[in-house]
Amino acid sequence: HRTLRVALLGAGSVGSQVARLLLEQADELASRAGAGLELIGIAVRDVDAKRDVDLPHELYTTDADQLILQADVVIELMGGIEPARSLIMLALETGADVVTANKALVAAHGPELFSLAERVGAQLHYEAAVAGAIPIIRPLRDSLAGDRVDRILGIVNGTTNFILDRMDTRGDTLEEALRIATDLGYAEADPTADIEGHDAQQKAAILASIAFHTEVPVDRVHREGITKVTSAQIEQAARAGYVVKLLAICERTHGADGEEGVSARVYPALVARSHPLASVHGGNNAVFVQAAAAGSLMFYGAGAGGVETASAVLGDVVSVARRRVQGGPGLGESMHAGLPVLDIDDITTRY
Ligand code: NDP
Ligand code: HSE
Repeated sequence: HRTLRVALLGAGSVGSQVARLLLEQADELASRAGAGLELIGIAVRDVDAKRDVDLPHELYTTDADQLILQADVVIELMGGIEPARSLIMLALETGADVVTANKALVAAHGPELFSLAERVGAQLHYEAAVAGAIPIIRPLRDSLAGDRVDRILGIVNGTTNFILDRMDTRGDTLEEALRIATDLGYAEADPTADIEGHDAQQKAAILASIAFHTEVPVDRVHREGITKVTSAQIEQAARAGYVVKLLAICERTHGADGEEGVSARVYPALVARSHPLASVHGGNNAVFVQAAAAGSLMFYGAGAGGVETASAVLGDVVSVARRRVQGGPGLGESMHAGLPVLDIDDITTRY
């Protein structure tokens, strides 16, 4: 079958795991995608930098433009606005499909990039941009497209959740906990984005835009980070039966005149220990969606981390590849890949 040439931009926490899985699971991914996925190169700043994941040295290049010109699919995992924005535009203009995890870019320049993709007939996917491994973009955009979403409430930043959790359960300082979150690959290149709430603000803008079918600019999302939350406040909250969580809340609003609007905000809040959000520990995230017909839905899982986020990125890559080769997301025979169909008793234990 056909082989698609895949260019990767960035080999940091997420990019290095995406590259490793593309190489290690090439056969499996090819059978699911309906096309081979050949990693043709990885654009970085420093080709000789020491990296946690050992990848073939010849894959590295500092010439991202040249790499993109040879690719069918471009995966952008550099982060930041420039040069990511220009490189994605170059990729789309030259006929490649694009997968990105870059929430800063999608939140700030989404409309411009999506309209370019539409104009040139290319795909631009970004499942990993919100809540790491948790599928939330596609459920909101596709699965709930026939419903009316009224409210989204969630923890959408893994770093700050990790920090607040460590301050609560282990008495760490914000600085100590941030250092560990950074070592775990959760934090942004500049972790101010996490602790000052910019990352959650960008994610809230993206979620609200999709859920309410509108364009919510980042600067219209109220933002407070966690830098003013003290250990004493967390202890006091604990004594009263609460835990402090950085929440993102997006909802439809109704003015006195009946006019509808949208409100989106990010701030640290007290959550009762009995509430499910209080049980979201470490780098996990949780997103509650309230929809008119579906009722309440909850999405939960790893909100940050290299390999966890690589799952969402590769899901997008397979999806993009399927449509590129088959002209649609059809579930071909390859999905079943010769696996035996087990009787229910083989996989469950009755009690
Ligand atoms: P890192 O900072 O760990 O890695 C960034 C990579 O991009 C590095 O390999 C770096 O090269 C390369 N890079 C940066 N700027 C340039 C440039 N100008 N030219 C060429 N290469 C460049 O980032 P992460 O892997 O943590 O994050 C990547 C993206 O994924 C970001 O948009 C982030 O917001 C998003 N994301 C991250 C998650 C996480 O848990 N970490 C979860 C979900 C999304 P070099 O190594 O040579 O410096
Ligand atoms: N820095 C982000 C976080 C990465 O901690 O949630 C995942 O988007």
